[in-house]
Amino acid sequence: MNHQPVMVEEILARLNVSPGQVICDGTIGGAGHASELIRRLNGTGVFVGLDRDPDMIGRARRRLEGVAADHESGREELRLILKAARYGELPEVLAGEGLEGADAVLLDIGINSIQVDDPARGFSFSRDGPLDGRYNPAEPGTRSVADLVNIEEERTLARWIRDYSDERFAGRIARRIVERRVKRAFETTTEFAGVIVDCYPANKRHKKPHPATRTFQALRIVANNELHHVEQGIRSCIETLNPGGTLCVISYHSGEDRITKRLFDEYGSPKTDPTNAYSATTFEGIDYRVESRGAKKPTAGEVESNPRARSARLRTIRRVEASA
Ligand SMILES: C[S@@+](CC[C@H](N)C(=O)[O-])C[C@H]1O[C@@H](n2cnc3c(N)ncnc32)[C@H](O)[C@@H]1O
Repeated sequence: MNHQPVMVEEILARLNVSPGQVICDGTIGGAGHASELIRRLNGTGVFVGLDRDPDMIGRARRRLEGVAADHESGREELRLILKAARYGELPEVLAGEGLEGADAVLLDIGINSIQVDDPARGFSFSRDGPLDGRYNPAEPGTRSVADLVNIEEERTLARWIRDYSDERFAGRIARRIVERRVKRAFETTTEFAGVIVDCYPANKRHKKPHPATRTFQALRIVANNELHHVEQGIRSCIETLNPGGTLCVISYHSGEDRITKRLFDEYGSPKTDPTNAYSATTFEGIDYRVESRGAKKPTAGEVESNPRARSARLRTIRRVEASA
C-alpha cells in the first residue's frame, strides 16, 4: 500500500515555500509531502530530507530524483540532500552542507504504511514477521520489541502499555506476556498479537481497531525511545529556523502532541512573561509565534478517504522575521 500524506494543502499553505529557500522534511518517509514541497521550489533552492529509517531514504531518493528532474531548466540550481538521520540531527546536517538554517521544516512524526506493510520490519500485527519494531535496528541504544517483552518486569510492561497507548487492559496483557514467555520466548509478531487478543473480552475481539493496535504502538515507542527523540528533535528544529522560518509538526497520539504543545508554548510565549525564564534568557533577541492555541485537525472528508489521518494533529510555530 502507498502511504497517503495527510493535510497536504494545509501544510503547503502554512510552510509557504518559495523558490530559492532551504526546505527540510525531517521525516521524509514515502516522500509524499516532500514531492509537493520540492515542486514549490520550482527548480531553485535546497531540499533536505531525513529519515531515521535508511530504507525510507533509498525509496525517497528514487521518487524525488524524478520530481527534481521535472525542472529541466533550473535543475542544477536545486540541491537535493537526503540522509539517514534523526530530525534532531538537522542542525548538524545543515552545518555539514554549509547551510546556516532552514526556511521551512516539516515533521510528520511516527510510522508510515510502507513500514507497517513490510512483515520483515516487525511493525505489523496481522502479517507474520520477527518481533522487531525498530526504524533502524543498527542504531545504538535501541531494543527490539522481542527484547522488551521477553526480559522486562511485568509492572514495567504494564506501565509502558498503559502510558503510551491508553490501553485499558494493560495490566492483564502484561500478566499474560509474562506467563507465556516462561514457556517460550516471543519471536514473531502474530504469536505476540494472538496473546493480546486473548486478553480482550470475547465480544470485543473482532472490533476495530484491532486489539493489538495499542500495545504495538506503545512498545514501538519504547523500542525506539521515541518521546525522547520528539522532545530533543523539536527543540533542534525550532532553533534551526531562519528569521521568518516556519516549523509544522503533525503528531498521531496524545503523548507526542502534548510534548509539541508544551515546547511551542515554551518558545512562543510572550517574552514579557517574567515566569518564562527559559525563553526570556536562552532565546533573548529571538521571537517565535505559535500559529494558534489549538491543534488543527483533518477535515471529515479527509478522514473518510484516509482513515489513518483520523488522529493527526497539526501545530505550527514561526520565527519572527525581525527581532523586537
Ligand atoms: C508518518 S511517516 C512520514 C510520511 C511522509 N510525510 C510522507 O509523506 O510519506 C514518519 C516517518 O518518520 C520516520 N521517523 C520516525 N522517527 C524519526 C526521527 N526521530 N527522525 C527522523 N525520522 C523519523 C519514520 O521512519 C517514518 O518514515
